[in-house]
Amino acid sequence: MTVVRLTPDDAVALQSIRREALLLHPTAFSADPEIESKLTANDWRERLKNRVWFGGKLDGGLCGMAAFSTEASSKTRHTGHLGSMYVRKDARGSGLADELMKAFVEHATLHVEQVVLTVEASNARAIKFYERHGFRTIGRTPRSLLVDGTYYDELQMFRTVSASD
Ligand SMILES: CC(C)(COP(=O)(O)OP(=O)(O)OC[C@H]1O[C@@H](n2cnc3c(N)ncnc32)[C@H](O)[C@@H]1OP(=O)(O)O)[C@@H](O)C(=O)NCCC(=O)NCCS
Repeated sequence: MTVVRLTPDDAVALQSIRREALLLHPTAFSADPEIESKLTANDWRERLKNRVWFGGKLDGGLCGMAAFSTEASSKTRHTGHLGSMYVRKDARGSGLADELMKAFVEHATLHVEQVVLTVEASNARAIKFYERHGFRTIGRTPRSLLVDGTYYDELQMFRTVSASD
């Protein structure tokens, strides 16, 4: 099991796992699969240049991902954002998600003071995972997502990061 920072050479593999994640878990991600399906491998290469993505590999294949981002504003760039957290079904419970989170937190510790994420309010497995990694719920947005005619609330979760993490 390895976790690496993905490079533009991983564009096709990342595109494929993102497509799978959005199709299998439509309420877990706010990205629109229809919009995203129009992105080319070149678009993904650009995304990989502009944002930090970690990939979890088992037997060399990409089985998980997590993304780190910040905003440009000097007023908000002390806060990092965790997004695109996904581990393929077969690899859940294997510790790969923990390794992805470890890589994410190590990186976040060097660049920001705190991290926020958003999770659909009934996604108990993800919430438990985030809580185990020190995140706590700080808010709830009612009707945040609209998927196939149904509204879903989302929770905002937060944790600080520091050199001692
Ligand atoms: C979220 C995700 C990355 C976590 O990875 P994982 O390998 O499943 O996580 P883990 O197994 O290490 O931890 C999950 C915890 O939830 C528990 N759990 C499992 N199924 C559960 C369920 N149905 N309800 C509540 N808790 C559950 C596990 O026992 C484990 O608890 P523990 O902390 O006591 O060990 C992965 O489940 C995933 O990719 N889910 C689909 C996409 C998704 O929801 N992404 C999050 C977007 S915000």
